Formats: sequence, structure tokens, C-alpha cells
Amino acid sequence: MSVLSGKKILLGVTAGIAAYKTASLVRLFIKLDAEVKVVMTPASKDFITPLTLSTLSKNPVHSTFYDKEEENEMWNNHVDLGLWADYMLIAPATANTMSKMANGTCDNLLLATYLSSKCPVYFAPAMDLDMYIHPSTKESLEKLHSFGNTIIPATSGELASGLVGEGRMAEPQDIVSFIENDILSKLPLKGKKVLITAGPTYEAIDPVRFIGNHSSGKMGFAIAKAAANLGAQVYLISGPSNQQINHSFVQRINVISAEEMYNAAHTYFNSVDIAILSAAVADYKPKNVVHQKIKKTDAALQIELTPTKDILASLGEIKKNQFLVGFALETNNELENAKNKLKRKNLDAIVLNSLQDKGAGFATDTNKITIIDKNLNETEFELKSKVAVAKDIMREIVERMNK
Ligand code: CTP
Repeated sequence: MSVLSGKKILLGVTAGIAAYKTASLVRLFIKLDAEVKVVMTPASKDFITPLTLSTLSKNPVHSTFYDKEEENEMWNNHVDLGLWADYMLIAPATANTMSKMANGTCDNLLLATYLSSKCPVYFAPAMDLDMYIHPSTKESLEKLHSFGNTIIPATSGELASGLVGEGRMAEPQDIVSFIENDILSKLPLKGKKVLITAGPTYEAIDPVRFIGNHSSGKMGFAIAKAAANLGAQVYLISGPSNQQINHSFVQRINVISAEEMYNAAHTYFNSVDIAILSAAVADYKPKNVVHQKIKKTDAALQIELTPTKDILASLGEIKKNQFLVGFALETNNELENAKNKLKRKNLDAIVLNSLQDKGAGFATDTNKITIIDKNLNETEFELKSKVAVAKDIMREIVERMNK
């Protein structure tokens, strides 16, 4: 999955011959599952039609502050457009538009949107070779760089003028790869490894029966995705769960019993930077697994149970520099119990869910948590979707790791 998947990309098109390549650019973004809106300078419409770009982007394309041809004239709100975007890309960026961007000129919708945007801005210059090396262009590039905008350098080759040299807009696929790599390189967990346990465990009674619990795995899977989206390589050790995950940074390791989860966790723990144990591991398992199906009789059946190994506590004992996070699901004396678990299992933080809170716990899509760190600082969160809770958990971990 691309880091651009689900992201909102605002493409600004200016009047250069390379504008014809923006059709491919829009297609590439859409293929990566990004949402695309396009703003054009009025003159760029001579190079590619708004109809082409609106059809490919599946969104209306605007080039003026209001659409004169429309029956009900509508103001095209540059502020909304600027705030909508996760990333803005100006491609091709002509010398004229770059100069205006660098100087705060605001005489068309694209420039007003640029000035209103708060997101990272990329621009891919395209012009003739002498224009590209002109001191005024260099000055624009330097100014835009100082604003925090990122240049996607022009390449060398044959130019529209027939001359050969530097000034060709980077190819669409190279622009997309450049942006993906740039985003990845700035992610806070780039180069880090994260171990996550999720879901229930099943403890066999006989070949067809087991002791299990109602954990769905939703919380752990959401954490795995949130960590991967921050650039981490994730080992997701999951008990039996219907949850699906499709992310190139996530390696799923399926286990069934607490013993298997223990072994898998210990296999990966030494190599990771963060371990988050959200699985609802069975605390007990049948002492003896019967190898043939137990037949029904009229007599009462007793199954002797023996404790499973506590995976979290065992990792707490051997941890070196890993940031170790546990979960606590409590019904009473929640804070006190969670703090005791934090200390007893040698954790860096614990995520507390109280079953007294409506919408928290196993069977829901929501959760309400309090995070307690090893200094006993408590951070309480509102009831949220598990996806949003996962992002909160990862943000809190990243903040504390960097302290
Ligand atoms: N956990 C674990 N291995 C176990 C049991 C629990 O790794 N065999 C982890 C869970 O994944 C969770 C944390 O320990 O992160 C808390 O589990 P919980 O069952 O709530 O705590 P216990 O220590 O078992 O205490 P109690 O059941 O008394 O609340």
C-alpha cells in the first residue's frame, strides 16, 4: 500500500507544454487510491483541457474564482481547497508561477490556493534550459525552499524549443515516487520495528473444542495499521481473528494458542523498538489436551486448568531498550489495577480500558482509553473509533520515545 493511499492531493497545473503529462499524473495518483482535485491557471487550459483532468480525477476542475458559465455563479473557495489538501503539487511549475509563488502574488485561483494551503507543497519545474538557470529562477527556487516547499528537480533532455538541456519536468512516475519517498523519509517511525499482539487465543480442550474469548482483534489490527502508516515495519502476531490487513509494512504471523503467541513474541522481541501487547491472551489452559473428542455422558465433566505464561510480563523481564506497552481491561479500581500492572510487568506505558465505560472493550468498533506512562502520568481520551484510538496510542508512544 502506498503512503499516498487515502490522501488528498491538490494538483496545480500551470501553462507549460508538460501540462499534457498531468493526465498520467492524475491517473497514477488515483491508482494509488489517493483523492485528487485539480486547480489550473487560466493559460494552462491551452495545453490540456479541464474536461480531461476532471474526468480522470473524478472531481470538478477550477481555474477561476467563480465559474462564469454556470447559471448559478459559484465562488470557488481557495481557502477550502487549500485546507482540504494533505499535499499540494504544482506540476508543471512554470518560471512565471514560481516567481509569483515566491513573491506572494495572488492573481489567479491556483496562487490564492497555494497561499491558503497549510500542507506540504511540492513543485516540479518545467521550462527552457536558459530560463531554468536564470538567476531570477534560482532566486525563486531558493525562496520556495526557504518557505519549506520541496522542489522535484527538472531533468535533462530534449525541450519543447528543440534545445537539449535541463528544464524538462520530471516524468509522472518519477514525480509520484519522489513524493512517496519524501513522505516516507519524514515519517516518525521510519526504520523502526514494532511488534503487536492482537486478538484472542484458543486453548484446546480436545480436537474440536477450545477455551476462547470474544476479542475481535480490531484494536490490535488498527494499531498495526497506525504504526505502519508512521513508517514502521510491523510484526502483527494475531490469534484467530477475521480481521484483514493489507499493508506492505505489516507482516502477519498467525497463532492459535497462548503458547504459540508466547513463542512468536519472543522470536521477534529482540529485534524490535516497540512492543504493544493488545491481545486478550487466555490466562488458563486445560492441563491435559484430550486427543480424541470427549464423548458426552450424564456425569459432570471437570477440566483442570493450568495458568498460561504471561507474555507481557516475560518480555518486561528481558527488555533492554524496547518501549513496552501493555493493555489492561478492568471492571473496578481501574487506575490502581492498571498502575500495579504497569509496575509489576515493567512496562513503559499501559493502555487502560474500563468495562464501566459504554462503548469500550471487546465487541465494539469504539474504545475509550486512558494511557498511563511509567512516570504515572495519566492521559484520558474521549470515546472514539478504534482507528482513531490507535492513532492516539501511536502518537503518545512516539512522543514518549523521543523524550
Ligand atoms: N497478557 C499477556 N499474556 C498473558 C496474559 C496477558 O501478554 N498470558 C497481556 C495482555 O496482552 C495485556 C496485559 O497482559 O497487554 C493485561 O492482561 P490482563 O489479563 O488484563 O492482566 P493480567 O495480568 O492477566 O491480570 P488480571 O487478569 O488479573 O486482570
